[in-house]
Amino acid sequence: MSHLIAPSILSADFANIQRDVEMINESNADWIHVDVMDGVFVPNISFGFPVLKAIKKHAKKPLDVHLMIMDPDKYLQAFKDAGADILTVHYEACTHLHRTIQAIKALGIKAGVAINPHTSANLLIDIIADIDVVLVMSVNPGFGGQKFIENTYHKIAAIRDIIRATKSKAIIEIDGGVDMNNYKKLIEYGANALVAGNTVFSSSNPSQTITELKKEI
Ligand code: DX5
Ligand code: ZN
Repeated sequence: MSHLIAPSILSADFANIQRDVEMINESNADWIHVDVMDGVFVPNISFGFPVLKAIKKHAKKPLDVHLMIMDPDKYLQAFKDAGADILTVHYEACTHLHRTIQAIKALGIKAGVAINPHTSANLLIDIIADIDVVLVMSVNPGFGGQKFIENTYHKIAAIRDIIRATKSKAIIEIDGGVDMNNYKKLIEYGANALVAGNTVFSSSNPSQTITELKKEI
């Protein structure tokens, strides 16, 4: 399976959101990654439902919604209604993660679990068979444009082993600091999907950068 590319809208120009979503529509990207931050789980606030709905209005690719919010349960239906096709919650933000995952699946959309850099891959063993996506944070969540954490490679390998052992169908998505220097190695270690914010949107030709990240290794 070739790997997926999910440009992160967090690095887009919010005064030109339609233009940037259309650029992704016309590009070789697979998903549009959408970061929702609550200022509690992470030290930043991004945007909520009105902006998500505005993105959805123009998007022709699935919205990969990454919730960096505490106790997301009461908002799951609202995120689906706003356009989420994949809904990822944080391991560290859910007291009853299994219940939360089942609730996302009951909405008829894909369910993901994100883990912070300090969270061990082993903690996924009892949930991985139930989920569609493992989102491995390769920076501490909260901001775009941060430096990639090298321990991520070892973590991808550990998750690969767990996926094999549990016969899970989950895919591994990497989020944070993905760039032209590390994307090949991430895929070699077993990543199936790469989020890229700064690398895409600070490039002089974002669409071409997406094509380069998408190249088979
Ligand atoms: C960080 C977000 C990321 C962010 C990645 O908390 O989850 O999705 O947009 O941005 P880059 O690719 O610039 O590190
Ligand atoms: Zn993200």
